[in-house]
Amino acid sequence: MFYWKTLTALLVIQYHVYSYSYGNNIDVEKIVNFVNNNPKSTWKADTYGMKTMPIDFVRQRINVNRKYNGKHFLQQKGSIENHSYQYGESIPTTFSWLTTNKTTCKMDRIGDQSNCFSDTIFALVGSFTDRLCLKTNGSMNEHLSVEYVLSCNPDISGCSGSWDYNILKFLKLNGTITGGYYDSDEGCQPYSVRPCGGFLDRMPCSSNISYTPKCKKKECTNDWHVYRTENLTYKLQNWYRIYAYYNDFYAKRDLYNNGPIMTTFSVYDDFLFYKKGIYERTYSSKFLGLQDVKIVGYGTENGTSYWQAANSWGTSWGDNGFFKIKHGTCSFGYYVVAVEPNITAT
Ligand SMILES: *[C@@H]1O[C@H](CO)[C@@H](O)[C@H](O)[C@H]1NC(C)=O
Ligand SMILES: *[C@@H]1O[C@H](CO)[C@@H](O)[C@H](O)[C@H]1NC(C)=O
Ligand SMILES: *[C@@H]1O[C@H](CO)[C@@H](O)[C@H](O)[C@H]1NC(C)=O
Ligand SMILES: *[C@@H]1O[C@H](CO)[C@@H](O)[C@H](O)[C@H]1NC(C)=O
Ligand SMILES: *[C@@H]1O[C@H](CO)[C@@H](O)[C@H](O)[C@H]1NC(C)=O
Ligand SMILES: *[C@@H]1O[C@H](CO)[C@@H](O)[C@H](O)[C@H]1NC(C)=O
Ligand SMILES: *[C@@H]1O[C@H](CO)[C@@H](O)[C@H](O)[C@H]1NC(C)=O
Ligand SMILES: *[C@@H]1O[C@H](CO)[C@@H](O)[C@H](O)[C@H]1NC(C)=O
Repeated sequence: MFYWKTLTALLVIQYHVYSYSYGNNIDVEKIVNFVNNNPKSTWKADTYGMKTMPIDFVRQRINVNRKYNGKHFLQQKGSIENHSYQYGESIPTTFSWLTTNKTTCKMDRIGDQSNCFSDTIFALVGSFTDRLCLKTNGSMNEHLSVEYVLSCNPDISGCSGSWDYNILKFLKLNGTITGGYYDSDEGCQPYSVRPCGGFLDRMPCSSNISYTPKCKKKECTNDWHVYRTENLTYKLQNWYRIYAYYNDFYAKRDLYNNGPIMTTFSVYDDFLFYKKGIYERTYSSKFLGLQDVKIVGYGTENGTSYWQAANSWGTSWGDNGFFKIKHGTCSFGYYVVAVEPNITAT
């Protein structure tokens, strides 16, 4: 009996520690039914039309080789915010840039990284775009180009993914031009990696990871653009990290005062099938890898406190591309990056 218990415990531990290997399929219906039949669950899952999901799909979307531990953040390059707190300072208990009347800036755009590990660029350039709009009081509301940073930054490995530091360095030194998401006809260089694989009505991806688009330094790839606006370059004036493990007040304050922020979190398999509500990791879910996203809000609903964020998996995924996640789940919101745009374009 004792032996049996020990063995079960070992198996349970292994179930959590071991991730998928090639050839495995994720049992989508099992995960989705488990979540949706749990009366205590604060979120709903969707099969997105799949019975099983080949592990290749996951490897096209999440960089399973990127592992993270908390210490890593503090060792990374970049200055940490000094957390100066003024007595009596307060922020709302619930806030979202999607619904606030503080601005006319449009912050509900959702990109689709497709089979390219450009999530970090989507999150950083997305918050850069939003904060530039806020800082210009709504007069600059064009999306900045993910494509340009992805293709022209020599210090990152393009669609194979990269840490945030080299992206931030490029945004500060070289900056980026304008450019919307795939097929958006917006800006000078829109995103060029065609949506594939993954969720709903998609063509399968022809390879696991897309090739990195070629850098086009001095031309607009969007024909419509040239006739409309200038292809100016926007740079960051500064950026900093906010460590919010012990106290998330500073991250929330920065979000509320200055605009969306970026965070990194751990993705478990059940998150792939999130549809709505406040996501919380189910106990039996398996770790897949890391994802970087843009936080747009926070709050408390029915006693559960959450962050609200924009993912870069298209609008068919989740709540029109957005999701809410329970505070403290998956290290979400512990490691935050905030950007400060320079509003003078050159
Ligand atoms: C909160 O409670 C209301 C009313 O019971 C319900 O409609 C809503 O879905 C709940 N929200 C969450 C995230 O559970
Ligand atoms: C925090 O303070 C240090 C020392 O005064 C300074 O070098 C650093 O730039 C500050 N960080 C931020 C984000 O302002
Ligand atoms: C925005 O909404 C808040 C809260 O609902 C309200 O107090 C404030 O007057 C509104 N501001 C504007 C400019 O409409
Ligand atoms: C935006 O509005 C604020 C407050 O009215 C003002 O101080 C600031 O100079 C404005 N910024 C720009 C870029 O117009
Ligand atoms: C980025 O800026 C550096 C320094 O000015 C320059 O040498 C480099 O060519 C620039 N890279 C791009 C892609 O513009
Ligand atoms: C993805 O990579 C795996 C392992 O290298 C390989 O077996 C599979 O065929 C690849 N899938 C595609 C669509 O290239
Ligand atoms: C802007 O685009 C035009 C046309 O593609 C090009 O001739 C020009 O050099 C570009 N300017 C800058 C600053 O990149
Ligand atoms: C913003 O950019 C302009 C133009 O490149 C530059 O002159 C100015 O010093 C920059 N401002 C800051 C605060 O970096």
